[in-house]
Amino acid sequence: MTEINHVLVTGGGGYIGTVLIPMLLADGYKVRALDRFFFGRELLPEDDNLEIVVEDTRRLAPEHLAGIDAVIDLVAISNDPSGELFQDATMAINRDSRIACAKLAKAAGAKRYILPSSCSIYGFQEEGVISDETCPTNPLTTYARANEMAEHGVLPLADDTFCVTVLRQSTVYGLSPRMRFDLAINGMTYGAWKTGKLPLMRDGSQWRPMVHVADTASAQKFMLTAPADKVNGELFNVGSAANTYQLGPLGEIVANRVPRDVEIEWYGDPDHRSYRVAFDKIEALGWKASKTAEDGVDEICAALEAGTTDKTTKTITLEWYKELVRWQQIVHATELDGKMLAL
Ligand SMILES: NC(=O)c1ccc[n+]([C@@H]2O[C@H](COP(=O)([O-])OP(=O)(O)OC[C@H]3O[C@@H](n4cnc5c(N)ncnc54)[C@H](O)[C@@H]3O)[C@@H](O)[C@H]2O)c1
Repeated sequence: MTEINHVLVTGGGGYIGTVLIPMLLADGYKVRALDRFFFGRELLPEDDNLEIVVEDTRRLAPEHLAGIDAVIDLVAISNDPSGELFQDATMAINRDSRIACAKLAKAAGAKRYILPSSCSIYGFQEEGVISDETCPTNPLTTYARANEMAEHGVLPLADDTFCVTVLRQSTVYGLSPRMRFDLAINGMTYGAWKTGKLPLMRDGSQWRPMVHVADTASAQKFMLTAPADKVNGELFNVGSAANTYQLGPLGEIVANRVPRDVEIEWYGDPDHRSYRVAFDKIEALGWKASKTAEDGVDEICAALEAGTTDKTTKTITLEWYKELVRWQQIVHATELDGKMLAL
């Protein structure tokens, strides 16, 4: 397969995309970032090798794939609560638009397509089970089901000219320009740092694999050049055994790392999602996670201390989408001929 130079990153303005794109640029790739930029356009660097396309992936057209060698299809309504509130959009974006994107990419002559999926499709597994990529899945939410359907839609497109790889990412943590405090380690760190109370979802015994945002971005970059005979048509779990935690002990790790006295504050009904996952397959290729939960806590605390990040509505994905819908209704009800005060 020919060399990869030009990469389309959908959802490039998101939590993972705003970490991934600078990494791709630093490695000399040309990048086209296509996004609605629901979280703002200012989060990506100015760079001659970065092209910004403001578009909705449900309206993807051949021109968006023109000249592209590979796609990293990050676009999504990106968590369970948002997926439940916006079920139709979640299916249309996370499933349909990503399958359509893979088909358009193949038709346009792209060589690689990478689908960043989620380990949440393992859902609940019995205690003691460690799922590898061949194990049965158990998607419990609209978000997880849409990811699995996207996997089923894109993998059959793999052939000798089009390399398709699915990455089932662990729950991500760590600092990003598009910060998310609705992710477990990030939310715990914020609560502990800000108020001395660490929010922990009941009952704390649930297993969850975690991966640092820079590590999952590096796995996506890795798949641009990984040997096609080893990754084409394949699924890989992304994370590490060392970063697989029960949430209770993870809360203790975060509490001990934040530089102040911290107490645990339990919330919610017992979480039914519990899964442990094997990472041998991706590690056998030579990719390995490099960061620990403590690294994530340290960098988030440092950024909070420096005032370069903060928890606002925009950092809680569901709250931000609800805000956008609410504002749209207000503007729609009050504007006249597309104008507000100026007429
Ligand atoms: N963060 C995690 O813990 C995690 C874990 C596993 C999998 N994933 C997956 O990784 C991917 C990226 O996640 P993230 O955390 O960066 O999410 P994110 O919400 O930060 O980013 C998603 C981006 O997609 C854009 N977007 C949404 N709908 C769009 C549309 N119709 N057209 C164009 N752009 C649109 C948003 O503006 C946003 O910039 C998602 O597929 C997510 O499901 C994330």
